[in-house]
Amino acid sequence: MKDYIEKNRERFLQELFDLLRIPSVSADSKYKNDVIKTANFIKDKLLTAGADKAEICETAGHPVVYAEKILDKKLPTVLVYGHYDVQPPDPLELWNSPPFEPVIKDDRIYARGACDDKGQMYMHIKALETMLKHNALKCNIKFLIEGEEEIGSDNLDKFLVVNKEKLKADVVLISDTGLFSNEYPSITVGLRGLSYIEVEVIGPKRDLHSGMYGGAVANPVNILCEMIASLKDKNNKITIPGFYDDVAELTKEERAEMSEVPFDLEEYKKSLDIEEVHGEAGYNTLERVSIRPTLDLNGIWGGYTGEGAKTVLPSKAFAKLSMRLVPNQSSKKITELFKKHFESIAPKSVKVKVKPHHGGEPALTPTDSVAYKAASKAFEEAWGKTPIPMREGGSIPIVNLFKKELGLNTVLMGFGLDEDAIHSPNESFRVFNYFKGIETITLFYKYYGKLNNGDLEKDLHS
Ligand code: BES
Ligand code: MN
Ligand code: MN
Repeated sequence: MKDYIEKNRERFLQELFDLLRIPSVSADSKYKNDVIKTANFIKDKLLTAGADKAEICETAGHPVVYAEKILDKKLPTVLVYGHYDVQPPDPLELWNSPPFEPVIKDDRIYARGACDDKGQMYMHIKALETMLKHNALKCNIKFLIEGEEEIGSDNLDKFLVVNKEKLKADVVLISDTGLFSNEYPSITVGLRGLSYIEVEVIGPKRDLHSGMYGGAVANPVNILCEMIASLKDKNNKITIPGFYDDVAELTKEERAEMSEVPFDLEEYKKSLDIEEVHGEAGYNTLERVSIRPTLDLNGIWGGYTGEGAKTVLPSKAFAKLSMRLVPNQSSKKITELFKKHFESIAPKSVKVKVKPHHGGEPALTPTDSVAYKAASKAFEEAWGKTPIPMREGGSIPIVNLFKKELGLNTVLMGFGLDEDAIHSPNESFRVFNYFKGIETITLFYKYYGKLNNGDLEKDLHS
């Protein structure tokens, strides 16, 4: 199968390029037709790869692509999840080449979605093609590829609930996360949850002359800054009462095990061009981005931000902020705690509005499952190393719902790297990882098939 992947290298790349050229930005309605075009593209490619059936399923938002290859109802079924939507490409001026005109430079594919998640999702379609060409598939596969992941998967929850029968499977397989590095491959075993909130601070009924009124009337921008600054103490602990109540603390042993990962802090700082890291006292960098919750502003605005100066005391100020959550915090509860606290700290001189956006629950995935062992064996064979089980900081809210609604565990077999700069200008994906990923996925099925026949236990102990 390696030969087949190698022989079809150019075509596998060109097809991904065609996919990357369609600007499927889910957040912006101006791209609605491109989103639909992308769904159709995926559907067609699933059919040519050999799926028995592929269909576009309408939702209240962007469509879901569903496909299946059923060999025998008695065999186990893997449900592959991915997303074909991408983040907005802004700020455009920071891209070295246009975001929807993929190019290869230094063995990297540059384009919005190259890694997150078009590149990683498409690997599964090419793995399917490869396995079917070699009669190597030994289980059933279902595909669930959505178009709203980057805006909170609002309509996918319902889709899962309504289509329980259709989505029946034994395990979920997702490539939408990262590797620790290509030298030390990893399998993601935990994701953080999310509460995303927008706040508005309202002062006087109109913008005021900052000389005539300044000093006597609350300035909403000043007040918003003070309120936000008070949300963390000098140790960078979040001050919202009850915020940490449900946080599952790791044992000393678990933390010691985590710190065995060959993480290079100097390299990390250098890669970001920062002099020093910053975060919650008592935890190291890897812990801060995986096992600890956070609160960060994503944007803040108000008043005059155009060219030159304008002496104005603005009437309103706004901010968007996100809190990353860890087991066993609940997004709904944290959002409520935030709202209550934020309203309580507002001085009488202003009014505040707290508007919750989307959220998602954190997830942990087991390492003792058949599918995890198969993924681990696949990495061993393709990368020559046993992958490190690692928790990551990003969120894929649907993972929790797969468990809750369908009773399914997930294996997070991602192939991205930090330097891929997902969500940033100049997002990229290593050509090496694209092809190695396809190979690793085919090996996952090889071991998953074997293991279900009881062979893997022998393998694992030989
Ligand atoms: N693929 C990412 C999630 C991710 C990135 C997990 C890196 C692990 C490592 C996904 O597309 C994403 O960006 N998710 C959003 C959440 C969503 C609710 C908007 C996120 O994490 O901000
Ligand atoms: Mn993603
Ligand atoms: Mn993303």
